[in-house]
Amino acid sequence: AIKKVKGMEIIDSRGNRTIRTFVTIEKGISSFGDAPAGASKGSREALELRDSKGSVKPAVDAVNNYISTALSGLDVRRQREIDLTMIKLDGTENKSKLGANAMISTSIAIAKTAALGLGMDIFNYIGGGRSHSIPIPLLNILNGGLHAGNSLKIQEFLIIPVNFDKFSEALFAALDVYKTLKNLITERFGKIYTALGDEGGVAPPLEKTEDALDLVYTAIKNSGYEDKIFLGMDAAASDFYVDGEYEIDGSKKSPDDMIEYYANLANQYPIIYLEDPFDENDFKRFSILQSKLKNTIVTGDDLYTTNVKYLKKGIEEKSTKGVIVKPNQIGTLTETFQFFDLARENSIKTIISHRSGETEDNFIADLAVALNSDFIKTGAPARGERTSKYNRLLEIENNYCLEYKNKL
Ligand code: PGA
Ligand code: ZN
Repeated sequence: AIKKVKGMEIIDSRGNRTIRTFVTIEKGISSFGDAPAGASKGSREALELRDSKGSVKPAVDAVNNYISTALSGLDVRRQREIDLTMIKLDGTENKSKLGANAMISTSIAIAKTAALGLGMDIFNYIGGGRSHSIPIPLLNILNGGLHAGNSLKIQEFLIIPVNFDKFSEALFAALDVYKTLKNLITERFGKIYTALGDEGGVAPPLEKTEDALDLVYTAIKNSGYEDKIFLGMDAAASDFYVDGEYEIDGSKKSPDDMIEYYANLANQYPIIYLEDPFDENDFKRFSILQSKLKNTIVTGDDLYTTNVKYLKKGIEEKSTKGVIVKPNQIGTLTETFQFFDLARENSIKTIISHRSGETEDNFIADLAVALNSDFIKTGAPARGERTSKYNRLLEIENNYCLEYKNKL
């Protein structure tokens, strides 16, 4: 039974404050969960509590004054009951009373502590009877948009190591591409431009989408992985949608122009994944683009914000073949599972994802394996808050020999 729930302020990878919550049961068995934080958030995400100076003390207070009392004495293995208790205690549509950061850090700490109490790996505890496999990583190796200081409007340029027999081989091949990319940048712009963006990708002084795609694709080819590693992008297009137009590559484009724009890029480059290509309210154009690009997984992140209500709309309108799953967008693991299951039932590809502001908590690696997710998105293969997830996946593969398969 839960003896203690206690929150505290820690720092995240952007140097901002965030919340870590500890849950303690009998015999001092205790674990923690951290809340990550986004920079390019969807407008329908559950709200995090933070004061005007950036402190998350209001969320810490919510844990220590309200959540701890409500959960005291409950069986830590009853994740659903515990999450529903928090949802009821909060009582708002968007978690604005307790804060999604207070709630998700608690929800994760509950799952981790329960697993520890049972002496189980977290993925085994959560996944139970599900078959497990290692997800394919989508590695963001070139950063733009709100995650970098350059002029690129597209937020993320991803490499996707698909055709490998093992996760470790796939990841180590991605490292080669990452290093080749850094060398290309050093040659073309100078070493100072190999400085990193928020998710650990390089952020060279490029302006046009094509220039970035060209550079990353060249890195793939020069490393010899043209037939094994493919390309993806997260446009995070709500961030450059201004007054009904998209401001990109030095011009203003209408929503219909953007359909042609992406189709043209997908013709030139092996883009198998395309996240948030339009503004978060434009379900219709997601559908049009998805029906046009048969070999690309068009994916909704800001479009759905891990909320079943919006996923149902996306399913009706056949908006996307893929969904991003970010536990902190909705605030509890129970709701995250519901969202994931709805996507699965509808044969939609799942991508368990980090945020641009992360901590060393590697929970999402276990979560992705637990749910047998198709993909995981957790940044470049560099910087501790990203490597903690990759290293955990390497550890799971090493200990359990789980399969790595082409899930396209
Ligand atoms: P965020 O970006 O964490 O800054 O919201 C990640 C994403 O858009 O996928
Ligand atoms: Zn995104």
